[in-house]
Amino acid sequence: MNDRFLAVCRGDAPDATPIWFMRQAGRSLPEYRALRATHDILTLCRTPELAAEVTLQPVRRLGVDAAILFSDIVVPLEAMGVALKIVPGVGPIIESPIADESGIDSLAPLSPEDGVSYVLETIGILRKELDVPLIGFAGAPFTLATYLIEGGPSKNQARTKALMYGAPKVWHRLMHVLADSMLAYLRAQVSAGCQAIQLFDSWAGHLGPIEYGEFVLPAVKRIMDGLKASGVPRIVFGVTTGELLGLIAESGADVVGVDWRTPLDVARTRTGEAVILQGNLDPAVCLAPWETVRARAGDVLERGGGRNHIFNLGHGVLPDTDPATLKRLVDFVHDWRPDA
Ligand code: CP3
Repeated sequence: MNDRFLAVCRGDAPDATPIWFMRQAGRSLPEYRALRATHDILTLCRTPELAAEVTLQPVRRLGVDAAILFSDIVVPLEAMGVALKIVPGVGPIIESPIADESGIDSLAPLSPEDGVSYVLETIGILRKELDVPLIGFAGAPFTLATYLIEGGPSKNQARTKALMYGAPKVWHRLMHVLADSMLAYLRAQVSAGCQAIQLFDSWAGHLGPIEYGEFVLPAVKRIMDGLKASGVPRIVFGVTTGELLGLIAESGADVVGVDWRTPLDVARTRTGEAVILQGNLDPAVCLAPWETVRARAGDVLERGGGRNHIFNLGHGVLPDTDPATLKRLVDFVHDWRPDA
């Protein structure tokens, strides 16, 4: 078993910097596109053998130090009674967006064993196949709320913020309902075999620190606190969260994901020393010639300082990325040593 990723999460010194990629499974891999030609994405998520196969594809091809369960953040929402689809090139689309308190009433608390048993089954298959740790994940309450309220991807999250500012009691109730269901979901993933979890708060960067602290952080904390006893490393990641990194570090997360806009040495001054940092090469760098990728990745590693750092991209792999570049990047990160 390759223990590098978990060693760093524990605060131990690994033999090399661990690396995995957000969205390492997906359209950059020809073997994923081949499966997608005959199955839509939600079918892949709901079919344990296929979800397991897609999870394994990047582990086999790239030699990364962790696997991430193949699913989507909206999968548990469907099991809470939300009718939705995932439109290629667009993202999740919700049939009847939440407009007021009655929309919250219509959300059924998630019972993972009933609603998403296929995810738990996928985890069981994967643990038998994998020789790297398996990361489970969920969407964070704010990011899920943006999809539920906007009905789909949004540029400014205006309707979400209108509810947040205009009806704070209703908003906090929504955060609470989502936090409880995602906590149940993540606990079930850990019981089924996940060895770390990542909370994706992808769109939290739409908020400033005052608003994040008041309207969002309590729900993230609730999830982190609820998972503490499980003993697995807890990662929190969001995009454009440079101004929020200090607060995210206060959530109880063991690992804080950093997007590419904040250099890791700067991020470190905001999070303090107690957390591990994960990130943060700009995914678009991987579209450039190898010499550029190597130089930029070397800079990320230097700023990470060779300790308490998990290498990743600053957001997901872009679909046009050549997997050969990702493979070279994995080897480069593994061969890199501080002061080398
Ligand atoms: O390898 C992995 O990282 C695991 C798989 C994974 C998917 N979605 C599969 C997927 C993970 C971790 C997610 C999480 C997710 N989904 C997030 C948080 C992470 C992030 O990127 O910020 C968000 C915001 C979503 C919502 C979502 N689902 C978006 C924005 C999209 C992209 C739409 C598009 O086509 O560009 C999806 C669809 C989706 N989920 C794809 C994949 C591989 C792309 C699709 C496909 O095959 O059609």
